[in-house]
Amino acid sequence: MTELGNTQYDATVLLVDDNPHNLKVLYETLKDRGYHLLVANDGEKALGLAERHQPEVILLDIMMPEMDGYEVCERLKANPATADGAVVFLSALDDVEAKVKGFSLGGADYIAKPFQPQEVIARVKTHARVVRLERELQARNRQLEGDQARILDTITQGIYGLDAEGAIVFANPAAASIIGCELPELVGQNFFAFHFGLTELAGLPVLETCQQGIAVHERGIEMMRQDRSLFPAEVQATPKREGDQLLGAVVMFRDISQELDSERALEEARTTVQEQRDQLAHVSRLLTMGEMAAGFAHEVNQPLTAISNYVRVALRLIAADPIDRELVSETLGKIEAQSHRASEVIRRIRGFVKKPATGKEDVDLAALLEETRQFAEVDARNNDGGIDIHITGELPAVAADPVQVQQVALNLIRNALEATREANTKAPVEVRAVLQDERTVRIEVLDRGIGLPEDAEQQLFLPFYTTKKEGMGIGLPLCQSLIKAQGGDIGFERRPEGGTCFYFTLPVAPAA
Ligand SMILES: Nc1ncnc2c1ncn2[C@@H]1O[C@H](COP(=O)(O)OP(=O)(O)O)[C@@H](O)[C@H]1O
Ligand SMILES: [Mg+2]
Repeated sequence: MTELGNTQYDATVLLVDDNPHNLKVLYETLKDRGYHLLVANDGEKALGLAERHQPEVILLDIMMPEMDGYEVCERLKANPATADGAVVFLSALDDVEAKVKGFSLGGADYIAKPFQPQEVIARVKTHARVVRLERELQARNRQLEGDQARILDTITQGIYGLDAEGAIVFANPAAASIIGCELPELVGQNFFAFHFGLTELAGLPVLETCQQGIAVHERGIEMMRQDRSLFPAEVQATPKREGDQLLGAVVMFRDISQELDSERALEEARTTVQEQRDQLAHVSRLLTMGEMAAGFAHEVNQPLTAISNYVRVALRLIAADPIDRELVSETLGKIEAQSHRASEVIRRIRGFVKKPATGKEDVDLAALLEETRQFAEVDARNNDGGIDIHITGELPAVAADPVQVQQVALNLIRNALEATREANTKAPVEVRAVLQDERTVRIEVLDRGIGLPEDAEQQLFLPFYTTKKEGMGIGLPLCQSLIKAQGGDIGFERRPEGGTCFYFTLPVAPAA
């Protein structure tokens, strides 16, 4: 008998017969057909060979001394290692009872002696093929189950299979580790009782999935661990159905306490950044006021001087006899107008240095820009060419914080005035506002000043970048941060005709 590596054979066939002649005939019949042939002349040997080689087909003589074919078959079937081989009985006993007994013991087929070689060949071929396919199928199944188990093991979310009453029929390892117990302890528990205590069921998450087949996805649900401590969970439940019948639910859940912690930390950090930005903006407004103080003093001084002149005139008028009442009243009117002018300047300063009411409101940009223009012109040193405002078309209200928008506009206008002064021109600074699209208003501040430094693109919005002797370099970075916080955009362009255009956008108020 030539021994080749098993893999080169289509199948292994074990021939069992106590009669050497029969064995020889069987052997001759099946040799050279691609089978690995094994022979045994008694039951004990047959079992040993079968265990070692796991033949696909066993041709088994029934009438043998010591152990007959039935017993061999029974023991083959009882051993998991040999159970799947196809047992084909060979016997001269051609009676029905013998056949039935063979089949009832797990035999696959029956060949009557004396056998026809063609019949043996055909049956062995068929059974070998069936067993081989079955083995392949099982190997494939095992692999799939292994894959599935590996996937379920690697998933960090807890997974439960629940029946319609909420009993846990399946749990993955992650579920056990989240809950803090061993996997077998979970199976059989009632999901609702185990994780939510024995309170009444109504209102419990996942209940409607089990009872009405409604998928749910909830975040921040408080679930109970085995030690009865609570944890916030994200729970997703999908109904499990077969046809119309609701069989329960598949529940995926995970512990989100860390996630919630970092969300809270992020939120706190956001609030801190927001507060710091507001504080910085406020400090910067105070600084701007400081820089403009000389201008304000001048601006307030003018009406005060005028008032004291008019008072002198009025005193003279009431000292005269007769008193010209009309002239006195006209002079008092002028005093009132001048005091109004002075208090206007102070009102504006107050409005500008106050801390803004946090939150957005509907802002009338045209009015706000006009106010800002008057404010900027107070800075007497910058008054050379003046400031022109152009509003194109109807401007809807924007959703913004008016104090902060004004601060941005003032910063840009003052930069433009400074650049204009540097360039020694009298070209006015232009402020344009236009509805860019349905949802955005664009504001531009244009000058014909000295233009931007070469490295502007990389530097301009960086804190403390300045080209001015007395500059601080916080104006533009602050503008950027304020505009971004309003949901707008800020940028600049070099004007081909010389000078610079700074622009920013603001969202149109939703009601507008
Ligand atoms: N309109 C402008 N024209 C030319 N350069 C400008 C203009 N606006 C800003 N810059 C440049 O950007 C720099 C930073 O501006 P800013 O942040 O307002 O700080 P500062 O005005 O204190 O220098 C300025 O020093 C200047 O070089
Ligand atoms: Mg500036």
